[in-house]
Amino acid sequence: MERLLVSGPSITQKEIDYVTAAVTNAWYGNANIYHERFERAFAEYVNRRHAIALPSCTSAIHLALLALGVGPGYEVVVPDATWIASSAAVTYVGATPVFADIDERTWCLSATSFQDCITPRTRAVIVVDLYGSMPDMDAILAVAQKHHIAVIEDSAEAIGSEYQGRRAGNFGDASVFSFHGSKTLTTGEGGMLVTDNDDLKARALFLRDHGRKPGDKMFFNHEVAYKYKMSSMQAALGLAQLERIEELVEQKRRIFSWYADNLRGLDDIQLNHEAPEARIVCWMVTVVLDQKLGLKKEQLMRLMDEYNIDCRPFFFPLSSIPAYYGTEQAARARARNVVAYSVTPYGINLPSGLNMDEEKVTYVCEALKAVLTEKAKRDRVGPPDE
Ligand SMILES: Cc1ncc(COP(=O)(O)O)c(C=O)c1O
Repeated sequence: MERLLVSGPSITQKEIDYVTAAVTNAWYGNANIYHERFERAFAEYVNRRHAIALPSCTSAIHLALLALGVGPGYEVVVPDATWIASSAAVTYVGATPVFADIDERTWCLSATSFQDCITPRTRAVIVVDLYGSMPDMDAILAVAQKHHIAVIEDSAEAIGSEYQGRRAGNFGDASVFSFHGSKTLTTGEGGMLVTDNDDLKARALFLRDHGRKPGDKMFFNHEVAYKYKMSSMQAALGLAQLERIEELVEQKRRIFSWYADNLRGLDDIQLNHEAPEARIVCWMVTVVLDQKLGLKKEQLMRLMDEYNIDCRPFFFPLSSIPAYYGTEQAARARARNVVAYSVTPYGINLPSGLNMDEEKVTYVCEALKAVLTEKAKRDRVGPPDE
């Protein structure tokens, strides 16, 4: 079996044709045609009024925070278990990330921990649809509403997922997406900010273009801001991918169901949780081992590597990594976030790229079962005699 990589896109002749057309034609008076088409189609897909194409999801979170007026002196609640991009932009704007615990089933923000993290300085919460799973949005939005806290949905990993029939990207004041090369829909690198709020959209557009008013022809800057725009070639690639989104989503769903069918019956593992009210599209199929197996993610990755299988570790809690370790909030989070610290050491992402087929998934599952059986056998025998 060739080496199985953890993620990757599906690129067809359609994408190649669109990018070729963009590099050929999207100049002079046509410079924005692909941005406009991509943004319009994307807004429609997630049922939002506005979509703004950006160079990354990180820049989308940055602009959303700025447009919501988040800055020094404010706190923003972020789940402890996520990619650092969810909290990095909080730090960029001079606010303080507060790391809340996750829910043991969805691995997304826990509504009760969010509630416990609120102080008079809490201005926003970033709710992450981790690995494509959907958080308990009803409970989280109720807490946010009660305390007048702005909500940014970080749907970087969740295009196509649904909660109560609403697509990821349709919750809170603004939602953000990533189109990094590993994502279900890719533009190589790229991101999108979506919102229904006209003021937020206007402010984000202004900040995206060095503080110029939209349509400005005089190159006249009112504020020092940012240069966050996607290229036409990326927008054309995104449009082609979006026109294939149902196919991409169905393939991701198939990959997850092959894994789920194959691993059903294994007692001591947990896969991405699909709550009855959700329909998840797993960006990464993720397996978390029961702590009692005594197999940590680093060792599990090494053992899977022996089968030529590339896996990724479940994200480390943000409060545990050097980037935040020394902060007061990280110390509090380490004392508080029991679930994040019991789940993340034992989880790995399995190969989930759009190039996976049933045979490859079966191979990964057999390898995982063999690793677990070997471990159980060794444990029964005990350590070798001195
Ligand atoms: C949860 C989450 N948020 C934000 C991002 C940032 O996306 P980007 O790399 O496009 O900036 C990622 C990237 O993987 C992510 O997984």
